[in-house]
Amino acid sequence: MAKYATDVIGFCVFGIEMNALSDKDSEFRKMGRKILNPTWINMLRIRMRESFPQLYEMLGYILPQTETTKFFTRIIMETMDYRETNNVTRNDFIDILRELKKHPDKLGDDFDFTDSLMAAQAFVFFVAGFETSSTTISNALYELALNEKIQHSLRKEINEVYAKYGEDLTYDNVKKMDYLDKVFKETLRKYPPVTFLMRQSMSSYTFDGTKVSIPKNQKVWIPVYAIHQDSDIYPKPDVFDPERFCDDAVQSRHSMTYLPFGDGPRNCIGARFGVYQSKIGLIKVLRNYKFETCEKTPTLPYVKNPKTFLLTPKELMYLKIIKINRT
Ligand code: HEM
Repeated sequence: MAKYATDVIGFCVFGIEMNALSDKDSEFRKMGRKILNPTWINMLRIRMRESFPQLYEMLGYILPQTETTKFFTRIIMETMDYRETNNVTRNDFIDILRELKKHPDKLGDDFDFTDSLMAAQAFVFFVAGFETSSTTISNALYELALNEKIQHSLRKEINEVYAKYGEDLTYDNVKKMDYLDKVFKETLRKYPPVTFLMRQSMSSYTFDGTKVSIPKNQKVWIPVYAIHQDSDIYPKPDVFDPERFCDDAVQSRHSMTYLPFGDGPRNCIGARFGVYQSKIGLIKVLRNYKFETCEKTPTLPYVKNPKTFLLTPKELMYLKIIKINRT
């Protein structure tokens, strides 16, 4: 799944065929693994940036640049140069960056649009875009392997939409799959890859009808995972139940009780992209393969890896995959 998501993001953001699926030694996949690998130097960087931002401003830059930073900066710069020299336009993220480089005035006067700042924009899309989706597809398949009836109903819906509207996985056709939408939302309810959100108050604020106040500049962590697991909001939270996302049930809950993509002006900018790349991945595999548990499949609830930033299982996610012969 990580290989699939790497290829999608690579193609759509960088305009590069990353070949992660077809080439087992794909450099991009290797880099993807390295970025998310919790080495002590990466952990130190993250902790320092969170807890002592001023110190990080001073020291962060003298910590050695990681191999991945160098790799992505080089790839992005080379891609932009290649397009400039060969007059290639793809109307993608790289082209937006090229346009901004040519017209930095669009960003305002106090903005220094350096090469490394540009590379960082593309880099963040790569990092934020592949693991969140691939881990969500894996978690969905895990629950579907454990819940055969749900898997069966979902495949039935997929096959019906294919039969009625053809093989084209257009945006509209994917949108017709209501049950897929519920399964997907329930997967993100039970396994939000980003388990908490971070904010800092811009002014002091007192909650209506309470004496609870947040002073100005207070850092606030919003515990998404805990909210999604709250039995007052989601009864029997350990049960995987896509019907929690039927219209009536959704209407009965406060909108802030479901936050897999965050909320407000700094919510996930790639949410729709993430939803569709994950759904398409799921449709493709479920149409062609059946998923079952095997002796190596982690038992419920799986143990979370305490070292990773995103919610991932500690053990590898093994499932038994059986080809479906369609006649
Ligand atoms: C299932 C897939 C995904 C999930 C669950 C997810 C989740 C999130 C969450 C929770 C945040 C923080 C939002 C907040 O603080 O309110 C975030 C931010 C972000 N995401 Fe995603 N994401 C997904 C896919 C993607 C994709 C595919 C991309 C890019 C192609 C992307 C790009 C970003 C970026 C750039 C930010 C930072 C936005 C900002 O700070 O303004 N995400 N994502």
